[in-house]
Amino acid sequence: KDVKLKEVSGILLQAATADSWSKIQTFEAKPDDLLICTYPKSGTTWIQEIVDMIEQNGDVEKCQRAIIQHRHPFIEWARPPQPSGVEKANTMTAPRILRTHLPTQLLPPSFWEKNCKFLYVARNAKDCMVSYYHFQRMSQVLPDPGTWEEYFETFINGKVSWGSWFDHVKGWWKIRDKHQILFIFYEDIKRDPKHEIQKVMQFMGKNLDEAVLDKIVQETSFEKMKENPMTNRSTVPKSVMDQSISPFMRKGTVGDWKNHFTVAQNERFDEIYREKMKGTSIRFSMEL
Ligand code: A3P
Repeated sequence: KDVKLKEVSGILLQAATADSWSKIQTFEAKPDDLLICTYPKSGTTWIQEIVDMIEQNGDVEKCQRAIIQHRHPFIEWARPPQPSGVEKANTMTAPRILRTHLPTQLLPPSFWEKNCKFLYVARNAKDCMVSYYHFQRMSQVLPDPGTWEEYFETFINGKVSWGSWFDHVKGWWKIRDKHQILFIFYEDIKRDPKHEIQKVMQFMGKNLDEAVLDKIVQETSFEKMKENPMTNRSTVPKSVMDQSISPFMRKGTVGDWKNHFTVAQNERFDEIYREKMKGTSIRFSMEL
């Protein structure tokens, strides 16, 4: 596959996104928008399903229907001639739930001006890198990752779509108290889903009873979502995602990096991690 990314202010993005950048930057947010923000492969689909289930009060069927009608658009998504993320968002009625992988500095300014709610999910760098590697193998709209050794360099240098993991996570973490941001971790949802789902529920201004929360925990488990055609992306054509190479719902675990990193790579990564994350107070609840 011959896919090229294009830079916008030093961040690599998909070419069609870069080409429609002025439309994306002038996107008009609404005060009651909720924006799901993630670095790629950090649990975007998972948190989206959680948010949907909360919004639909745990009603699975309503949730499925909602997904069919409006999978929350990525505001930076562009693939002409299909309607862009901006166009899709513009046809949605408030309150809207939207998604983005953009780093803070590239977010359309209107989101800050309208004081929107942001739900950020962070995943530890090593698992994120492994997940992104397998995703780039199967995605037909992202560049070929090359070998694992090659990808290791590409990832740590931030030469992947949506830029550096380090800058992304640090950027959103830094402003978490200055805006309406709920900042949560993939590893925490995995360890105690009910607790994290409850936080999301409160952030969304909802109040669901225990039984509904328990149901949401069950319905948003990896196993359930892997089976569900609405969330496992089996409806996405092979020309976009070739899941015979690697499934979208791949493993859904914490610590899969141990099956990929060599000891030497791990040591080098830890060193680079310490250097790049110097001065930030963010901590991931796993051994790094
Ligand atoms: P793996 O490749 O490690 O399995 P995104 O939605 O941001 O693209 O992230 C995809 C990653 O989240 C994949 O990680 C996927 O398996 C994982 N994921 C999706 N749903 C999940 C769930 N319910 N529980 C745990 N992990 C989930």
